[in-house]
Amino acid sequence: MAVSDKLARLIATAAPLWAGEAEVVRTYWDWPGRNRATDLRWLALQCYKEFRGSGVGEHRNLGVFVGPLTELIESHERIEIDVDRRHVLGLLEGLYEEFSHYVAFAEAHDAIRCPDDAPLDPHATPDFPADAALTALRYRAIAAHGALGVRASKFTEGGYCALFREGMRLEGRGGHDALIAAACATVFEDEFTHMLGGIVGLDDEGLAEDDWRLLETLVGEILRQRILMRNQQFSEPLPAARIAAIFAGEIAPLDFDYDKAAPVMA
Ligand SMILES: [Fe+2]
Ligand SMILES: [Fe+2]
Repeated sequence: MAVSDKLARLIATAAPLWAGEAEVVRTYWDWPGRNRATDLRWLALQCYKEFRGSGVGEHRNLGVFVGPLTELIESHERIEIDVDRRHVLGLLEGLYEEFSHYVAFAEAHDAIRCPDDAPLDPHATPDFPADAALTALRYRAIAAHGALGVRASKFTEGGYCALFREGMRLEGRGGHDALIAAACATVFEDEFTHMLGGIVGLDDEGLAEDDWRLLETLVGEILRQRILMRNQQFSEPLPAARIAAIFAGEIAPLDFDYDKAAPVMA
């Protein structure tokens, strides 16, 4: 797949940080601190992100569920007037997909949960400061830089599917891991497409060199915060020193799959 030098440079900025997020998850699977409670915790936090997560350019920053729902209600009388029918279809598809991700992780959570474990409560705001900081960073990027901020937020959505890809690798292990692998497989293809939503059309927008540089800066900031978010979600399997090393570039970059991206970006 042919992309411009500038887009290739943006992907190269992201690739070591995508690898860092994958390392958090991969380390967790066989980490000595892992137990049922830490599994339930990360799954509940993932459910929260799939249901109430925000900052990826959704309507009025209302979150991945309420945002599109509100936009649909507000726009239904304007379809074929100044709202494109395909835009509405995209909102409905996105809403369906994100809620199906919530259901996949919620079902894995409930299958692992024992009677004495707390039930899932997607309405509570969890103690998850690194995720709150990630959302705030995206809001600031969007407020300060408009469409470029939205691009940076969408481009970094899902962190190149790090969690889902690493989760799928648990297939064949049995037990809780098989449940996690199945949930991650449900989500993987959707999230790969969502991430590409931040790339499609970038090369046709005629961005100036300064815009590309700004995108690289925003993407780098957001992806570094994503690594901190993931590490907190998984009860911190990576020590601070390793995260500092990843931030310093001491990691092999993830290979961006240009062939897999090609049909979506065509
Ligand atoms: Fe999702
Ligand atoms: Fe998504």
